[in-house]
Amino acid sequence: MYTLPKLNFDYADLEPIIDARTMEIHHSKHHQGYVNKLNAGLENHPDLIKKDITELLKDFKNLPEEVKKAVRNNGGGHANHTLFWSILTPNKQAGPTGGLLKAIENSFGNFDQFKKEFETKTAGQFGSGWGWLIKNDDGKLEITTTANQDSPLMDGLSPILGIDVWEHAYYLNYQNRRPDYLSSIWDAINWEQVNTYFSN
Ligand SMILES: [Fe+2]
Repeated sequence: MYTLPKLNFDYADLEPIIDARTMEIHHSKHHQGYVNKLNAGLENHPDLIKKDITELLKDFKNLPEEVKKAVRNNGGGHANHTLFWSILTPNKQAGPTGGLLKAIENSFGNFDQFKKEFETKTAGQFGSGWGWLIKNDDGKLEITTTANQDSPLMDGLSPILGIDVWEHAYYLNYQNRRPDYLSSIWDAINWEQVNTYFSN
């Protein structure tokens, strides 16, 4: 059975970047909904329901046809949100350091240029979806987006940072201003955690 992960902070702790009501609905309703539907979709597959969500998505192509839709939409939703919560923090950090900073500089020039590129690409994702920082096999970094709840894991990619740009992630506070949400969220990023994902 898949379960909703606990947050490392309270719903109000990310204010004013993300408001408490948005966090509460997002975590306790939206994410819980993906978990519930994933479990329901896999109820006849006890071997799959006990797998690590990352492993389940990495093996997407080999899954039985009848579970693919549930895994893609709700398994993706579960994995994406789990990553998202883990890279948020109420304790503002200056930015990436160490090996991660070096890789960002190698791939994008500098941190500001990376942020600009990420904001532009992610703001341009049509409709609901996600912006990703991906670590390639050669250690290089790449910015991608996916639609809906598609996970980069399904394509064999390793996301180390993901930002939710579904309207449910920002609409109460930012309404239609997705670019403002994106430019604000950097102050809530847990770069230590992103660095951990980068180093693994
Ligand atoms: Fe979301």
